[in-house]
Amino acid sequence: MSGSSPRGRPSPDSRSERILPHAAAISAEALHSIAEQVGTPAYVYDARAIDAGIGRWIDAVGDPACISYAAKANTNLAVLARLERFGVGIEVATPGELARARKAGFPLRRIVFGGVPKPADAVRDGMRLGVGMIVLQSAHEVDAALAYGSESTNGPVNVGLRVRPGIRAGAHPSLETGRTDAKFGFAPDQIPEIWQRLSADPNLVPRTLAFHLGSGLDSVEPYEQALDLLLSLTRVLDGHGAPVRELDVGGGLGVDYASWADPEPRDLVRNLTERLAGIGAELRFEPGRSVVARAGLLLTRVLYLRHRRDYPAVVCDAGQTDFARHALYGAQHAIVPVDGELSGDPTVEVLGPTCESGDVLGTRRRLHGTQPGDLLQLCDAGAYGFVMASNYNSRPRPPEVLVDGSSWQVVRPRESLEDLWRGEEIP
Ligand code: LLP
Repeated sequence: MSGSSPRGRPSPDSRSERILPHAAAISAEALHSIAEQVGTPAYVYDARAIDAGIGRWIDAVGDPACISYAAKANTNLAVLARLERFGVGIEVATPGELARARKAGFPLRRIVFGGVPKPADAVRDGMRLGVGMIVLQSAHEVDAALAYGSESTNGPVNVGLRVRPGIRAGAHPSLETGRTDAKFGFAPDQIPEIWQRLSADPNLVPRTLAFHLGSGLDSVEPYEQALDLLLSLTRVLDGHGAPVRELDVGGGLGVDYASWADPEPRDLVRNLTERLAGIGAELRFEPGRSVVARAGLLLTRVLYLRHRRDYPAVVCDAGQTDFARHALYGAQHAIVPVDGELSGDPTVEVLGPTCESGDVLGTRRRLHGTQPGDLLQLCDAGAYGFVMASNYNSRPRPPEVLVDGSSWQVVRPRESLEDLWRGEEIP
């Protein structure tokens, strides 16, 4: 058998020994004590890797205020508060993420309310609150903003418009958001008319054109294409209402889960900055995954082994309810024993304990010799891990633990059985 995964990429197990500075480096000793005291499954984050993850972006961009960490990747308050200390901003998609950002200490002026097409009342409430900027991406949001503007006495609010550039960015189809058929943003030819209407309202300050192409991108090229489109729109808008002050290129820079060959923020920033020559607008970046993915792992214990002909499998106490990325996107994260080495051919499947055959954490792994009771770590699970966990099968969601050097702390406890039915009533 070969060491390659089905798409011809290296398998996650073939990562070289060079570990990235922004990847979790948590000792086996610490993982054992977490497993014993907190139990498994458990998300474990390395605070210093979080620092390094955002540090890499700050080094690339320069001004932390031009970075809006995409909260959706990991909204744990301890993680958000850690990032806040760097002076970066935050991009939130929902009133829930907005509330979390505030709870973690982000000042309103550093909050971009963007994300998805939002209900009209969310737009109104965000503007009333005074977020730093709100990104509108559908007609009903524009109507809500204009209605707010016509009656507000709170002073002007910064507004952005999300453009749907019609670009296939090469991500997993579920994660592409800039295609012509995507539900996000306005077609470019709709922008001038909306921009002018917004500009006419003294309580609204349209200043930003935004896009978000998708998530998990491994090349700078689609960003360049989309930025060129924003630049031509910027020229069209020049003299038609408020000047465009900012170009928000969204998030999306990927993590190579199969190797350590992550695309570098500095390459993206350098390429895009070069294209701005002569334009009086700044760039904004909304990275999520590339900040926190490497900084987390999911710790799980092997429950039992299944020996089917040609398909040996280990069944773990973590499954798709804790970590959905394989079930949803076929994502292959490295899964390695906490003790000992990978061994044998890449033929072992790593399964979860729930009632579906699709409850898979990874396939084709070199995990022969693994025994019930062994601890495994599913790597690079700091982004889109816990935030996508569910209570399916009435499984309490796992705890989250933050390791800082030689100490660790539970920053969200495991849900209890009572948590499962909180608020429910039997009439
Ligand atoms: N900005 C906007 C407007 C977004 O919609 C997103 C992600 C980001 C920024 C951050 O993108 P990132 O840098 O993290 O790629 N659940 C999926 C990811 C969905 C991302 C949705 N939007 C996954 O597990 O891969």
